[in-house]
Amino acid sequence: MGGTHPVVSGVDGVPDLLTGLATTRAIRRLAPDPIPDDDLATILWHATRAPSGTNRQPVRYVVLRDGERAVGAKSLLAESFRVGWADKAASAGYDQGSALDPTSRKGRSRAAMQHLVDHFEDVPVVVLVCLVRYREANPYEGASVYPAVQNLLLAARALGYGGVLTGWHRAVEPELRDLLEIPDEVALHATVPLGRPLGSHGPVRRLPLGDVVYDGRWGAAADWAVDPLGTEFAGPPPASSS
Ligand SMILES: Cc1cc2nc3c(=O)[nH]c(=O)nc-3n(C[C@H](O)[C@H](O)[C@H](O)COP(=O)(O)O)c2cc1C
Repeated sequence: MGGTHPVVSGVDGVPDLLTGLATTRAIRRLAPDPIPDDDLATILWHATRAPSGTNRQPVRYVVLRDGERAVGAKSLLAESFRVGWADKAASAGYDQGSALDPTSRKGRSRAAMQHLVDHFEDVPVVVLVCLVRYREANPYEGASVYPAVQNLLLAARALGYGGVLTGWHRAVEPELRDLLEIPDEVALHATVPLGRPLGSHGPVRRLPLGDVVYDGRWGAAADWAVDPLGTEFAGPPPASSS
């Protein structure tokens, strides 16, 4: 595919694998419509196809929909998401400069994050992605969790849903664990709201391939690492923001 055409194919409305990889965004504006059981099962089944160290399969998914406890958990999470977003807005400059221009890219991200936290209670499905620890907590354990989260988001995308990986459960984690009876040896690694996307979403924008691929040694240009035609780009935010 190098340097010729962007990948844009699929069958019966389901994007093919490369299209899915190239077009899956963080979706934060979600319709309240429920996700049918079949679709949810399909999404989770594909999440469980992800690899884990030694194929231990330590990932568990607590799915919050509309039961009494789920509603209670969503309401706790809503509070926590508002705290998470307020912290992020302050630390990453979302309350100043171009972020205040709703037509700027940062302004659109700001609006999407604000929408998510304002409507969190109405998100139809929230998945808590957990890890059953089999050894001491360590900095690498997420490596057995995040491939599953990405599979989940890609499967959701394939079926026309969207979602976003977040860590914004942290402010209420103890209360959430109590409410949902999550055992001590289980780590909560991600909270993923899921639903049908509202509105339109731009393309995935990343650094040019040539900026991130080195040939044979650190820093050596890889002349063959060329983005497909039409690729759009964005650099990371300034180092001072997270
Ligand atoms: C490790 C990790 C943590 C993240 N935490 C949050 C979060 O707490 N809240 C949130 O709204 N998005 C979170 N995101 C989503 C990222 O902000 C998003 O994937 C990134 O900005 C790229 O967005 P795009 O694919 O739409 O371009 C997280 C993503 C990753 C991979």
